[in-house]
Amino acid sequence: MTLPQSAASAVSASAAAASAASAPQTQTQTQTQTQTSAPVERPLVQYKPKALSLTINGKAVGPMQVPEGLMMIEFLHEYAGLTGSRLGCGQGVCHACVVILDKTDGTSEEMRTCITGAHFFNGRTIRTVEGHAKRNDAGEVVELSPIQQKFLEHFSFQCGYCTPGFVNAATVLIERLKREPVAKADVESTILSALDGHLCRCTGYVRYYEAVKDVVMTTPGLVKDAA
Ligand code: FES
Ligand code: FES
Repeated sequence: MTLPQSAASAVSASAAAASAASAPQTQTQTQTQTQTSAPVERPLVQYKPKALSLTINGKAVGPMQVPEGLMMIEFLHEYAGLTGSRLGCGQGVCHACVVILDKTDGTSEEMRTCITGAHFFNGRTIRTVEGHAKRNDAGEVVELSPIQQKFLEHFSFQCGYCTPGFVNAATVLIERLKREPVAKADVESTILSALDGHLCRCTGYVRYYEAVKDVVMTTPGLVKDAA
């Protein structure tokens, strides 16, 4: 006997439903049911405030109560009102977020603020990109730093998102070369090494490099055997 088309479809659908009902559940299905049936309790995050004082761009900041564990980039943006440092990757890779740490021995170094807690800087002295240019009493910029000026002249940046990091990296390099001049033959590799960790999504690397080299070669005392 041949079933009509509609009856055949109904039998087929019933068989599939019965098969699905009797099939053993996979582990994923069981987990999904468990997750949806049992509400997940999420404890409130408890922020523990802790005092923080430091010097930024020559000015004393704090003491102020800051959540323990807060990253420095968040402190700069949300507590210090300094938004020039850029949050890029947030994972310590791109170096857009670096500030300059001025050490007690007179040297300086870059610090990534997206992976360094604000309290690491307690009692320390830093510079951000806002601190490089000279300003008048009204706070207006009246003169850029040599690195900033050369970045402009060489059209080094496009969107500018990475620029604060490059400014700080190049500034640290220039300060190091003032203490330890480099041989002329090593200028290029020294600059490449200093800028190496900084990523630029607009790929402005060559013009950044050329601007820094311009500063290095035209600032007296940075190159040992300069002509
Ligand atoms: S944002 Fe800090 S290294 Fe990328
Ligand atoms: S200028 Fe755009 S990311 Fe470097």
